[in-house]
Amino acid sequence: MVLWIEKYRPSSFDEIIGQRDSVEKLKAMLEKGDVQHMILSGPPGVGKTTSAVALARVVFGESWTQNFMELNASDDRKLSVIQGKVKEFARSKPIDAPFKIILFDEADSLTQEAQQALRRMMEEYSGTCRFVFSVNYQSNIIEPLQSRCVILRFQPLSKEDVYSFIDGIAKKEGLSVNSEAKESLEYVSKGDLRALTNILQSLSNVSKTITAEAVYANAGILDSGKIKQGLKEALSGNYLKARESFETILDAGVNMKEMLSEIFEILITSDDLIETKTKSYLIEKLAETDYRIVEGATPYIQFQAFIAFLSNLKN
Ligand SMILES: Nc1ncnc2c1ncn2[C@@H]1O[C@H](COP(=O)(O)OP(=O)(O)OP(=O)(O)O)[C@@H](O)[C@H]1O
Ligand SMILES: [Mg+2]
Repeated sequence: MVLWIEKYRPSSFDEIIGQRDSVEKLKAMLEKGDVQHMILSGPPGVGKTTSAVALARVVFGESWTQNFMELNASDDRKLSVIQGKVKEFARSKPIDAPFKIILFDEADSLTQEAQQALRRMMEEYSGTCRFVFSVNYQSNIIEPLQSRCVILRFQPLSKEDVYSFIDGIAKKEGLSVNSEAKESLEYVSKGDLRALTNILQSLSNVSKTITAEAVYANAGILDSGKIKQGLKEALSGNYLKARESFETILDAGVNMKEMLSEIFEILITSDDLIETKTKSYLIEKLAETDYRIVEGATPYIQFQAFIAFLSNLKN
């Protein structure tokens, strides 16, 4: 299986969405032939690693993989690794290139000791190697390293940027993603395009039509707006409509227990839905449903009975 985060990782600066400041700075460095040590700081999944890889591709062309090394957080972050693998790479000669680039992905987790060792290495090998640190918080890098680096700040992506990213993938994968679904993807991923891409890929295995319900369910988040709407329909006596609404929520794979808890929350917190007298009555009914399910009754039937009960109040 090809991971979409790799498939859709921009390979050039022009494909990077947003981040104009950082991209311009990188391009300027390239033009001047003056690539420096760098800290790329910013929230997860907004293009830090992508930009570093794009830089390596431009600088090294065909030989980029030989002159570029990426150390992930899953690699050992201890001093021994820095003194072994990293040193080995940094001091060996670049291949058909003026220097090499080493990227420390998620450098927030580099130990103090490791950073101290890097401080010396950056000086010693600056002739052959550029050090790039990708971090969520610049403050996790020790001052002496910060002062040796140009700092590029990556910004959270705007809604429009996130939406256009979704549109791009949707077009290529033949997905249909309506605006409600886009909003839910942006909300659930908090603008982290890696997380967002992974959600899209996993949902696309189930259906080419991406719905907000599916997005929320995938994230284990209940769409309380939808649930409230279903409750309103039931309370206005429209059983069929309410059943339909809840069916779409349940189809997305929502856990029944969570659904009941959410209904409980909605019932006790919203004043616009029902009067207090009815409220207490409903909560009792909800507790009864919950109990029956725990005792082994069929959740689906019990839930339907609860919705039917709500709808009958009006009639
Ligand atoms: N600005 C962007 N433009 C286009 N695609 C992006 C952008 N940012 C992220 N992506 C997409 O999200 C994926 C992850 O991005 P990337 O690895 O660059 O994130 P990151 O900023 O390094 O995050 P982390 O802090 O978690 O390492 C990429 O494969 C790419 O598909
Ligand atoms: Mg990264």
